[in-house]
Amino acid sequence: MKTIAKISIASLALSIAGCQDTEDKAIPSLKSAFEGKFTVGATLSNGMLETMNDPGFAIVEKHFNSISPENCMKWGIMNPEPDTFELEHADRFVDYGSENGFEIVGHVLYWHSQTPDWVFEDQDGNLISREALLAKMRERARMMSERWGDRIKVWDVVNESIEGDGSWRNSKFHQILGDEFNELAFRIAMEELPADAKLIYNDYHMTRPGRQATVIAMVKDFQAKGIRIDGIGIQGHWTMEDPSLEELDEMLGAFSQTGVPLHITELDIDYLGRSQYFGANVDLERLKSDPANNPYPDGVLPEAEEQRFAKRYADIFKILLKHHEHIDRVTFWGVSDLTNWLNDFPVEGRTNFSLLFDRQFETKPAFFSVLEVAKQN
Ligand code: G3I
Repeated sequence: MKTIAKISIASLALSIAGCQDTEDKAIPSLKSAFEGKFTVGATLSNGMLETMNDPGFAIVEKHFNSISPENCMKWGIMNPEPDTFELEHADRFVDYGSENGFEIVGHVLYWHSQTPDWVFEDQDGNLISREALLAKMRERARMMSERWGDRIKVWDVVNESIEGDGSWRNSKFHQILGDEFNELAFRIAMEELPADAKLIYNDYHMTRPGRQATVIAMVKDFQAKGIRIDGIGIQGHWTMEDPSLEELDEMLGAFSQTGVPLHITELDIDYLGRSQYFGANVDLERLKSDPANNPYPDGVLPEAEEQRFAKRYADIFKILLKHHEHIDRVTFWGVSDLTNWLNDFPVEGRTNFSLLFDRQFETKPAFFSVLEVAKQN
């Protein structure tokens, strides 16, 4: 309790003082605050990679030492048609990362979402054979390796292939390859990507007991079979309530037992929340135009709410630091609230609050609460 009180007073004082200039040398960087604990990352969006002069780059260069591509390496974006490759953004991403000394993360090799139908289906719309799909998967991994070599140090090999109840997701990958999908994917990655690239399984809602148990069983199975798995990727798309701090603590403890390093791969906190929008008869289109779903359209939270948000980040980072010996990296899914995906999910066009930098690219009280936790732990 003592620490929490100190954090909110410190963050409040800093925010009142208006000491919010990201260029201000007096503001310590996140990467230096967590040095020796874990690397700290952010994603580069397609918008940033389009112009290469987005104000977000100043934040990335000051505060982070790892970068992930938000969208540009997804199968459907890089290779929308069998012989069409759109690699400009991905090239810029890797060039920028290596020229500026960042750890570069590849996201994502195999994901059921954002993968075009041509990958799974023949011209008549029938699912292709196991061998044909494996050949396409191998070709994709080989292309990545040949083009960017060992500049990409960490790869999300498979994303979201396990349901919350622990069953395998009924994706087209699974329909064609069956329960061996993950294993086959990691074998291909191990054979095609550089030997020192860290190979990661990445998923969301990792506190769900079923998913957690299957991930742990899969890691142990891979270890027994000599299949490399170098990291468990915990996405970290969390809300103000979910997961509870106890659940978070337990989850990190459970995954740590595997001995495989943990990566928090996609951290953001959905201030507006989303659980109320799921379920039967929810018409997201209608909700879009209802102002009740967008309570702070001017992008400013009431001070008490800003502090509540800052405290949520502080509480989460205290738990992350408790487990820091098992955590390699914490990556934020975006740079500022301006373009974070949660402005459009699950209801489009909301003004959401999710990261440490606001819509003007200035530090928020949550930024200082996280720094304060780093100082004290
Ligand atoms: O590029 C088109 C653009 O041409 C078009 O005008 C615009 C109109 O909607 O859409 C643009 O594509 C969007 C794309 O992001 C780039 O902005 C897609 O509609 C949109 O669906 C896509 O959303 C991304 C989503 O993954 C699906 O790929 C989000 O930005 C991205 O943050 C999100 O990231 C995922 C991780 O990869 C995996 N884990 C969950 C995470 C959040 O969903």
